[in-house]
Amino acid sequence: MDQRQQDTPRVVLGVSGGIAAYKACELLRRLTESGHETRVVPTDAALHFVGAATWSALSGAPVATEVWESVHEVPHVRIGQAADLVVVAPASADILAKAAHGLADDLLTNTLLTARCPLVFAPAMHTEMWEHPATQENVATLRRRGAVVIEPAVGRLTGTDTGKGRLPEPDAIFEVCRGVLARGAGEAAVDLAGRHVVISAGGTREPLDPVRFLGNRSSGKQGYALARTAVTRGARVTLVAANTELPAPAGVDVVPVGTAVQLREAVVKAAADADAVVMAAAVADFRPAVYAADKIKKRDGADPEPVGLVRNPDILAELSTDRSRAGQIVVGFAAETEDVLANARAKLARKRCDLLVVNEVGERKTFGAEESEAVVLGADGSETAVPYGRKEVLSDTVWDLVALRFP
Ligand code: CTP
Repeated sequence: MDQRQQDTPRVVLGVSGGIAAYKACELLRRLTESGHETRVVPTDAALHFVGAATWSALSGAPVATEVWESVHEVPHVRIGQAADLVVVAPASADILAKAAHGLADDLLTNTLLTARCPLVFAPAMHTEMWEHPATQENVATLRRRGAVVIEPAVGRLTGTDTGKGRLPEPDAIFEVCRGVLARGAGEAAVDLAGRHVVISAGGTREPLDPVRFLGNRSSGKQGYALARTAVTRGARVTLVAANTELPAPAGVDVVPVGTAVQLREAVVKAAADADAVVMAAAVADFRPAVYAADKIKKRDGADPEPVGLVRNPDILAELSTDRSRAGQIVVGFAAETEDVLANARAKLARKRCDLLVVNEVGERKTFGAEESEAVVLGADGSETAVPYGRKEVLSDTVWDLVALRFP
């Protein structure tokens, strides 16, 4: 085997029958152009949507759907064995069911059974099919076994329907594949498999009147990085996003919110069956006591009315105190400007969370930046320093520490 072949990750792109098969062409292009040796294994149904000639031309490799072609090469075993990653996009309800039950009636299902590498499924189907208990149980089974099943996006479906079930954008699926490939194979790579994690991100806005609000400078980048990394580690992810303008990460359920009260409602609801909750959002501690239904106008010669404030609920403290689920891990964030570690220790004890990620805030640091530096304090007295680097690195450290604490 020459050097190039050894270093080139081998990806199998499984394509099942669905109109979103056309989007898999773009995913294939991204994979091949970025140096992945990609073999396409469509199902018969997929070929109704995009023909074998297209897959073959784009991948530069032969395309077969049946186990009876090129039998001397034993493709039903070899393709799966040799793969570093198998990604099925779009994954229909049918292929999810077959994979969950170990059926092997064509080349793709055989490949899924023989692969020992990470598996990524990007489901796409009508909302009713996705929500059906049969599909949901199949997805839960696959996730429990360590497959990465990314949540479908919400939007326009075939025909005039809209709802949950859209294939996420090819770029976003590609990013998930890259993340999963980087973590490699084995149980440790998908240590959040079968887990549901809830992350809050962004900054709340507390309205004064229809055009003004009290807000903060949180960009949401840290929370989004936590969501992306959790997906690649196999988790089902709910991201409660307050006033962010970032593109939705692939495979994540995004719940948009505005105020602290709305954020609390969404987080508490999602936390009911969550294994971990990470409060990365900057939540306003106070909101205007009175909301003016009409825009507040200035009056000639008169001083402005003072703005009265009332306390918002402390969501982190509430989650940490009434754990909705036994063994749930709760993580908070703290931005401090002075006596950083002492203040943070006190905050950890006050809020009773399991982990507190402490950022020192200052110029260029934390708000809106792509990179950050932090210390993660544990309720058990542990202290983990994360050097200055990409927010994904800090996110992975947080998930390492969370996974260690799961019962
Ligand atoms: N938080 C929360 N609900 C609030 C305020 C903050 O859940 N009403 C969460 C944030 O999401 C974050 C952590 O608490 O995880 C940060 O708290 P911070 O605002 O720094 O703590 P405070 O108790 O407000 O401390 P300080 O007195 O320093 O403002």
